[in-house]
Amino acid sequence: MKPIKITENIYNVGVNDWNIEDFHGYSTPYGTSYNSFLIVDEKVVLVDAVKAPFTAELIDNISRIVDPQDIDVVISNHAEMDHSGGLPAVMSEIGEDKPLYCSKMGQKALQNHFKSDWNYHAVKDGEELSLGKRTLTFLETRMLHWPDSMFSYLKEDHILFSSDAFGQHYAGNEAFDDVIGDAIMPHAKKYYANILLHFSPLVKKLLDKVTDMKLQIDMICPDHGVVFRKNPGKIIAAYKRWCLQEEYEKKAVIVYDSMWQSTEKMAKAIAEGINAEGVKARPMSLKKWHRSDVLTEVVDAKAIVVGSPTLNNGLFPTVSDMLCYLKGLRPQNKLGAAFGSYGWSGEAVKKINKEFEEMGVSLIHDGHRIQYVPNADDLESCFEYGREIGRAVLA
Ligand code: FEO
Repeated sequence: MKPIKITENIYNVGVNDWNIEDFHGYSTPYGTSYNSFLIVDEKVVLVDAVKAPFTAELIDNISRIVDPQDIDVVISNHAEMDHSGGLPAVMSEIGEDKPLYCSKMGQKALQNHFKSDWNYHAVKDGEELSLGKRTLTFLETRMLHWPDSMFSYLKEDHILFSSDAFGQHYAGNEAFDDVIGDAIMPHAKKYYANILLHFSPLVKKLLDKVTDMKLQIDMICPDHGVVFRKNPGKIIAAYKRWCLQEEYEKKAVIVYDSMWQSTEKMAKAIAEGINAEGVKARPMSLKKWHRSDVLTEVVDAKAIVVGSPTLNNGLFPTVSDMLCYLKGLRPQNKLGAAFGSYGWSGEAVKKINKEFEEMGVSLIHDGHRIQYVPNADDLESCFEYGREIGRAVLA
C-alpha cells in the first residue's frame, strides 16, 4: 500500500499482507497489515518496521515522504518479527549508527534476534524524547503482547502508537475506523480473543493506568489493521469489557467434533435444550470452524460446552487441539460441560473434564455420555442436559 497520511506530518508507511492465512495458529482469512509510522518533525522518526519479506515495500514507502537516510531515530515498540523482521535492512539503509529506542526487554529481545551492536537506547517507563515541536512519551506495556512491548504516545497530538494492542488482523482498502465503521469490531474482537485474552488482567491494569494518568487519546495507531481516528473510545470501551471477563451475554458455545454424527446429534439436542431456557447456543463443529473462530465466541460466552467422541481411549484429535489452544488462552470465570458418544471405553468426557479443571473452568455437571448412536430417549436426555446448562448460565 502507498503511504497513508494520518495527520499533518505523520504517515503510515506500512504494508498490507493480503495473503497470510495463519498467524501463529490464528486463522487470518482477511490477511493483516504491518503498520509502520513515520513522524516528520525536526527529528524524523520511524515507529516500528514490518515483517522481513515486506521491507523493500516499507523502504519504498518511506522514500515517497523523506530520504530514508534522513530518519534520525527508530523506535521499536515490540520485538516480535512481524514488526522487527525488517529492522536489519532498515538500519542498514538509514545508517547503523542511528539511535534505536526500545524498552530494556526490547533491547535484549532485539539483540537475541538480530544484532547486539546497534545504537540501542533502552527507555524507562514514562521517559520522553523531544522531536522538536513534538514529544514522544514511552509507556511500558509488558506482555501486551511480549515482555518487551511498549506504547509510544505523541503528547501534543494525543496519538497513541499502541503496537499490538487494539490491533486487528485485517488487510483492506479502509485505513481508518470512520471509513470501515463497525465492520472492524469483529476483527478486533477476534484479535483480542486470540492474542491478548490470556493477558486480560494486564490489559485491565494498563487501562486503569491510562485512566489514572488522564491521558487524552484522540487517535490510536496500532501495528495491525485500521487506525482509530474518529472514535478511539469505542475500541477502548470494548477492551474494558473483554478484559474484565465478568459480564457475559446469555450465551453458550458448543464446540465439538464427531466420527459418525452421534456426537453431532448430541450437540444439536443440547443446543435446543440450552436455547429452551432463553440462552443463545451456538454449535460449532470443528470440521467447519477454526479454533480461533471458536475463541472469538468464547470471549463473551458464559459457558463452554465441549463434545468429543472417544477415539483410541482418548479425545478426538481436533478436540484435543482445541482444548490445548483454549487452555493456553486462559479464559476466566467460565462454566464448562462435556458430552460425547462412545463405543465401549468412553474416556473422552473424563478427559474434557480434566482439561476444564486444569484451566479453572467450573463444571456444571459430570458430563453426558451416550453409547454408540443416540435414540429418541437419548436425544431427550441431551435436551434436558442442555436445559441444565442453560439454567446454570442464567443463575
Ligand atoms: Fe504483531 Fe506480537 O506481534
